Amino acid sequence: MTARKIIIDTDPGQDDAVAILLALASPDEIEVLGITAVAGNVPLALTQKNARIICELAGRPDIRVFAGCEGPLGRKLVTAEHVHGQTGLNGPVLPDPTMPLQDQHGVDFIIETLRDQPMGSVTLCPLGPLTNIAMAFRKAPDIVPRVREIVLMGGAYFEVGNITPAAEFNIYVDPQAADIVFKSGVDIVVMPLDVTHKALVTKPRNDAFRAIGNRVGEAVAEMTDFFERFDKEKYGSNGAPLHDPCVTAYLIRPDLFTGRHINVEIETRSELTMGMTVADWWRVSGRPANATFMGDIDADGFFALLTERLARL
Ligand code: BDR
Ligand code: CA
Repeated sequence: MTARKIIIDTDPGQDDAVAILLALASPDEIEVLGITAVAGNVPLALTQKNARIICELAGRPDIRVFAGCEGPLGRKLVTAEHVHGQTGLNGPVLPDPTMPLQDQHGVDFIIETLRDQPMGSVTLCPLGPLTNIAMAFRKAPDIVPRVREIVLMGGAYFEVGNITPAAEFNIYVDPQAADIVFKSGVDIVVMPLDVTHKALVTKPRNDAFRAIGNRVGEAVAEMTDFFERFDKEKYGSNGAPLHDPCVTAYLIRPDLFTGRHINVEIETRSELTMGMTVADWWRVSGRPANATFMGDIDADGFFALLTERLARL
C-alpha cells in the first residue's frame, strides 16, 4: 500500500492535535505534505503555533507548517476558548516551538501542491472552518478537479449543533466557505457530530493513553483531561469527544466508519439556523448526493488504533 498524500488544514485544538499525531504516527498509510493553519478554535497566531508544537511533540520538526486565513470569508471570527482554553491546547505543558513557520501563505501552498502533485493524488483533510480550502478553490478553480478527496470533520444531522442549537462549530464559523466546498463537486467524506460524539475518551481509554509510557501518550491524556470538562458539564457525557482524529483514522481504517452517500447543503442565510448542515439522510429531497455523511463508528476499534499508533511516536 502506498501512503496517501494529504494536506491537513487545522485549528489546533486538542482534538486537532491528536488527529495530527495519529497521521504522523502512520507513515505507511499517510504522507503529510504539509499542515495549513486556519483561525477557528483560537486565532491564527495560536493555531499556527500550536500546529508546530504538535509536530515537535511528534518528533517531526521537518513537517512544513503554513499560516492561512485569519478569519472567515464574510463573517466575524467566532472562537472556542470556552472549550479548548486560552491557548487552544490547554492541558499539557509543552515547549514553544523552535521549528519555523513557512513564509508562504497556507492558501498558496494548497494551490501550489495540488498543481505540482499528480492529478487526483492529494487528499485534503480539514479539521477546522473551511476558509482556507474555499479560498484556494476560489483563487484557483483549476485545482478543484485535481483533489482526490476531502475528508473533513464538520456538521451534524441527528446531533444537530454544538455551537448553536442548529450548527456544528467548524461549519458555523464559516458557512460561506463550507457552502463553496460542498458545492465544489469534489468527493467529500464528512465526520459529523453524529460520529464524533460516539468517540468518547472514557477513563479506561485515557488510562490506556497514559499507560503507553511515552511523552505523546502522557500529553494526549493531559489534553483530554482538560478538554473533557466541557463536554461532561454540558452534555453529561462520559468523556471528551475526539472529533478530528476520526478524519485521520478514516484514512487508515475506513472500515471503522459507516455512513450514507447523500445530499448535504449548508444554511448560509438564516441567522437562526446559520451553518446548519442540511443532510438528506432519509433521501427525501431528490437533490443529488454530494457527500458521504458518516453516521456510526466502531469506537473500540478506533481507540485501539489510536493507542497503538501513539505508542509508535
Ligand atoms: C470541531 O470544533 C472544534 O472545537 C474541534 O476542534 C472540532 O474540529 C467540533 O465541533
Ligand atoms: Ca478542529
